Amino acid sequence: MQAIGEVIDSGAFSGGPFVERFEDYFAAYCGTQHALGVGSGTEALWLTLLAMGIGTGDEVITVPMTFAATCEAICLTGAKPVFVDVEERTYTMNPEALESVRTRKTKAIIPVHLFGQTADMDPVLEFACKHGLRVIEDAAQAHGAEYKGRKAGSIGDVGCFSFYPGKNLGALGEGGAIVTDNDQFAEKIRMLGNHGQSRKNVHSLVGWNSRLDAIQAAVLLIKLRHLDKDNSMRRDHALRYNRALAGIPGLVLPIAADDRTHVFHIYALRAPDRRGLIAALEAKQIGCGIHYPVPVHLQPAYRYLGYKRGDFPVSEQSANNLVSLPMFPEMTPDQVAFVTTAVSESVASRLTAGIA
Ligand SMILES: Cc1ncc(COP(=O)(O)O)c(C=O)c1O
Repeated sequence: MQAIGEVIDSGAFSGGPFVERFEDYFAAYCGTQHALGVGSGTEALWLTLLAMGIGTGDEVITVPMTFAATCEAICLTGAKPVFVDVEERTYTMNPEALESVRTRKTKAIIPVHLFGQTADMDPVLEFACKHGLRVIEDAAQAHGAEYKGRKAGSIGDVGCFSFYPGKNLGALGEGGAIVTDNDQFAEKIRMLGNHGQSRKNVHSLVGWNSRLDAIQAAVLLIKLRHLDKDNSMRRDHALRYNRALAGIPGLVLPIAADDRTHVFHIYALRAPDRRGLIAALEAKQIGCGIHYPVPVHLQPAYRYLGYKRGDFPVSEQSANNLVSLPMFPEMTPDQVAFVTTAVSESVASRLTAGIA
């Protein structure tokens, strides 16, 4: 409240010292030269693609197991999204599939650090380097996650973040950021998000209005101080979930790969009888979710791309049986235990009934 009051007193609501301070701290946190506040995670992805000169006639490789925003950003540049499936263990991009979809039109790859765990970045970077492609990390769900000691967002050419309220680093409204070491991309993205202005009243590019709000920046600056602690609380909850649910027949629990630090934006497990499990949890007033019930390649808006059911079996199967359990830093061990007991009882009762 005090920080919000300071923004109001200063009158600097758009851009200005609060946004600049947040950008400096967020860049330092991610270990990059630049951080640029923008209006949302979707705009972070879109502006990055535009700054790379990607548009009509180009192809960008990504995964269908993501939030639609990843795909929207590609389409809105005029480029074509091309999908590869995800890995069974981590639900992130399967780098081995990249070669089979690369064409002369491929310009960039967007791995998505889903649920709080980074994709396997080294093979993606190696492939990109070999073929002269750009790598944009969709780190909207992975603030503070690490891959081999490197922070999510700092590994590829550009990292894109969302500060949507439910994210690990969430604002009190919409917001996003781009992090990069590349001076040219940083300058161009900054211009694109500020009506294409190279300086005041000189519109050198056709741009857009995508600026981080100063009140959000002031709030994010405070919340950034708590991010590591919050992430470690999420990891503790995940460990408790994993310990209590290990060995329950049919459940597939999330795996944190050895070379990565998972920040558990979402704790998603696979259950053979998802509908029954969700009903049992809801009966106990335990909120749960599905991320995501329909993979992007099967969504109506993307039918024109020509994909069909069966094209990406891991994504499709995951969409059919993933359930997200409650996950937020302030959960208590008792609350975690309440959830795991409900899950165990639900599976046991269905086994007894012979349904599972
Ligand atoms: C993987 C992924 N990419 C992109 C976005 C888009 O972020 P925003 O909602 O800030 O536009 C989200 C947000 O939900 C996301 O989860």
